[in-house]
Amino acid sequence: MSNTAPRKILVTSALPYANGAIHLGHLLEYIQTDIWVRFQKSRGHDCHYVCADDAHGTAIMLRAEQEGITSQALIDRVSQEHQQDFARFGVAFDNYHSTHSEENRHFSELIYTRLRDKGHIATRDIEQMYDPVKGLFLADRFIKGTCPKCKTDDQYGDNCEACGATYTPAELIDPVSAISGATPEVRTSTHYFFKLPDFARFLQGWISDDHVQPQIRNKLMEWFESGFNEWDISRDAPYFGFEIPDAPGKYFYVWLDAPIGYLASFKNLCDREGIDFDAYWREGSDAEVYHFIGKDIVYFHALFWPAMLHGAELRTPTAVNCHGFVTVNGAKMSKSRGTFIKAATYAEQLNPEYLRYYFAAKLTSGVDDLDLNLEDFAQRVNADLVGKVVNIASRCAGFIKKLGGGRLSTHCAEPSLVARFVAAGDEIAEHFEAREFGRAMRRVMELADEANTYIAEAEPWVLAKQEGREQEVLDICSVGINLFRQLMVYLAPVVPAMAEGARTFMKLDSLDWSSRQELLLDHEIAKFKPLMTRVERDRIDAMIEASKEDLVEEQKLKETPKGPLADDPIADEIAFDDFAKVDLRIARIAKAEYVEGADKLLQLTLDLGGETRNVFAGIRKAYAPEALEGHLTVMVANLAPRKMRFGVSEGMVLAAGDDDGIYLLEPHSGAQPGQRVS
Ligand code: 2FM
Ligand code: ZN
Repeated sequence: MSNTAPRKILVTSALPYANGAIHLGHLLEYIQTDIWVRFQKSRGHDCHYVCADDAHGTAIMLRAEQEGITSQALIDRVSQEHQQDFARFGVAFDNYHSTHSEENRHFSELIYTRLRDKGHIATRDIEQMYDPVKGLFLADRFIKGTCPKCKTDDQYGDNCEACGATYTPAELIDPVSAISGATPEVRTSTHYFFKLPDFARFLQGWISDDHVQPQIRNKLMEWFESGFNEWDISRDAPYFGFEIPDAPGKYFYVWLDAPIGYLASFKNLCDREGIDFDAYWREGSDAEVYHFIGKDIVYFHALFWPAMLHGAELRTPTAVNCHGFVTVNGAKMSKSRGTFIKAATYAEQLNPEYLRYYFAAKLTSGVDDLDLNLEDFAQRVNADLVGKVVNIASRCAGFIKKLGGGRLSTHCAEPSLVARFVAAGDEIAEHFEAREFGRAMRRVMELADEANTYIAEAEPWVLAKQEGREQEVLDICSVGINLFRQLMVYLAPVVPAMAEGARTFMKLDSLDWSSRQELLLDHEIAKFKPLMTRVERDRIDAMIEASKEDLVEEQKLKETPKGPLADDPIADEIAFDDFAKVDLRIARIAKAEYVEGADKLLQLTLDLGGETRNVFAGIRKAYAPEALEGHLTVMVANLAPRKMRFGVSEGMVLAAGDDDGIYLLEPHSGAQPGQRVS
């Protein structure tokens, strides 16, 4: 570290829900955050990394009920599972807590009462769907029915996956509770609202002030222009959460107390370790606070959260750092393709550090999605970590043992080469600081190439066969180990377990950033042990297979046949003539694109062998556009054109699907666009 004072830094990752397993999609965020935190610690800063389980809400309450256990028992078990997964991936929180904790109750009540006392809370009656069998109010996603626009069955209470329409649950035709199957009733209840519009001016300033990435700022500005509504922060009993202080039977909505969980977890750490909590959270604090989150929860973190903090006279975050989603082999993670991979399933087959490196190599400071291409993953890890980095140490270690008795030369034969590697640390540090991990890794691998070239050109193995040249060999290999040491300082935040092996091998006290300044001369090293082995392809296959089996296990646990995930019954019989009216054709997907503003749809340009059709298909959750282009599929070619919010849909593609996946039909090879299907 330079001679400036250490920074006080608090870092968080989003709190995972306490009702599901950690998967690779989650891990991108935890790994990204953990690398950044490890880097800050390596630089000598006072950096604290806290997280917690997000333990409240209806989904958790229902899940516990389904398993026949209490909510407390469920969240205790899941917390253990989560922490085990994080530990396996080297995600080293300084504290892992729960939103169902006394600290969180305290801060939730504190923030709420401060907001209330300053007039930022409103109450009013709202009408909502109520399940008379379960005795609870239903969130939109727990109501299903027929779309009022296109009449497709089995659509959720807020939007239609088939036509993209958005509506209120009251507009659904024949709505049913997805929990009990009962017909919901409309009931009135008093709700509590956080008056977000009171903070419009404050937020406009905050957003413009470099607290979010440019892409996120643009998105926020769009929301800003369309105006803010008051935010409903209460839910009626029964609800697993905290009761609102002055409102018996009303609970804080899970998203109200979730971010407050960041404070709660940090307070728990402060109490344990004697850290001054207020020095981080009082208004005007000179400490830095960073939240790492996925781009799907920006609204909560970049609007509600700073407004709540500001209204409660607490400091606001230094930055909210968003990342994109993980895709696997170019498509959304899919349970049926075995690419919805749980952390535990991955770790049973593959070294977690492979994934840490691969994510680092592809991470930028932006919000683009990150594709885990499994072929590229194996190739890159093997080429870079094993082929380039470990190779340097393994080529040099044997000669040092043999010719130096395990001690490096007393002088450096290539001081300027080593000095360049040390100097490169400043640029690499800038990339880490800016969350440009991909750039940092590229620079490290350029250095690794240089080190390998130096050794290859010096040919110590040739010299070793020549009498009287032992010292030269020892000098070359000592330079090699010094270069390797620099690389491991730079890689340590990314691959901490490998770095620990390297530290032991080099008998060093530390691989912290500043430690690299002093060269290793006349320094003893230990016997070399392989620091990382190659990715084996059959382990990747085994992981995919195991992920498919995870799906089978989950199916067994699914809800009762009445529940939202029950199989559809076979429809009534139709006459052959009715079937014959449907003109099914082979179509080639000439182009596939996302549809702005529709998170379920893809826009397909279909080639029918001369004629092209524009079709909107509700398959976005299963396919990335580039994975579809060029493929053949089957379409209904004589469906009457339908005007949708995004344009006219001229037909329909055929796909199988349920809650776990969507599978576009594809003919055997040889079929031609335009051919009739019968
Ligand atoms: O989206 C989620 O998974 C939430 N559990 C994240 C909460 S982050 C924070 F606000 F607590
Ligand atoms: Zn519809």
